Amino acid sequence: MSATIISGKELAAQKRLEMKKEVEVLKEKGMTPGLAVILVGEDPASQSYVKAKARACEETGIHSELDIVPTSISEEELLKKIEDLNMASHIHGILVQLPLPDHISEKKVVETISPDKDVDGFHPINIGRMMTGQDAFSPCTPAGIIEMVKSKSIEIEGKHVVVVGRSNIVGKPVGQLFLNENATVTYCHSRTKNMQEITTSADILVVAVGRENFINGDYIKKGAVVIDVGVNRNSAGKLVGDVEFETAKEKASYLTPVPGGVGPMTITMLLHNTIISARRLVN
Ligand code: GUN
Repeated sequence: MSATIISGKELAAQKRLEMKKEVEVLKEKGMTPGLAVILVGEDPASQSYVKAKARACEETGIHSELDIVPTSISEEELLKKIEDLNMASHIHGILVQLPLPDHISEKKVVETISPDKDVDGFHPINIGRMMTGQDAFSPCTPAGIIEMVKSKSIEIEGKHVVVVGRSNIVGKPVGQLFLNENATVTYCHSRTKNMQEITTSADILVVAVGRENFINGDYIKKGAVVIDVGVNRNSAGKLVGDVEFETAKEKASYLTPVPGGVGPMTITMLLHNTIISARRLVN
């Protein structure tokens, strides 16, 4: 067996085209969706992520503002910037790029962003809404994963979904979104015993641990759908996922590549959430 590749790059391009048309319709009604991004410091990976986000906004017709502030900014000053953006009527989404320097509380930052502008879906109010099946901004990477699975008409209901990793940004919420789609969900993490026994029973396997080659073909049931969320640099400087691509390809029915898999869908869902936020204000 050789798996069908689910290209996040292609799906993202298609979704962004649809969103561009949606933005045009909103603009005709006098509404331009706006996203504000704050980056603290000069971490090169974070810089490239936020620039990709700004570029995607531009392509889609969404207004974006990028505020790069020095690491020396105080927590109070950063919270004040967020409060100002909460009040700004032309801004519908606020994103503070994580991680933050040690002297700034991530919890305080996330909780200061208005839940109505929390397009990352990280605010406890949005997480609570998502868990209780209410209307909420879903975290972008998990939401992008669901879109990728659905794009191939893969049935989710009743399937065993195994999530490897339990981060607040990806692992925990992606399991919840699959549960909302009526899957049976199991989480594996660093303390899990007999991980292979569990992963080989997965119909859909989501891997989000941040370690190169963490999962290979021996951990995959024949015919499973494998979603690789990892972004790692190998010893040759090449971007690779958490799944050993060559051995996984021989076992899986569908597989997402790295790069060009989940990554482009994360940004796409951020644009989607920003449009939804703006649309709520239009009758
Ligand atoms: N850092 C890595 N991924 C993300 C993300 O999705 N949102 C934010 N705000 N920071 C990140």
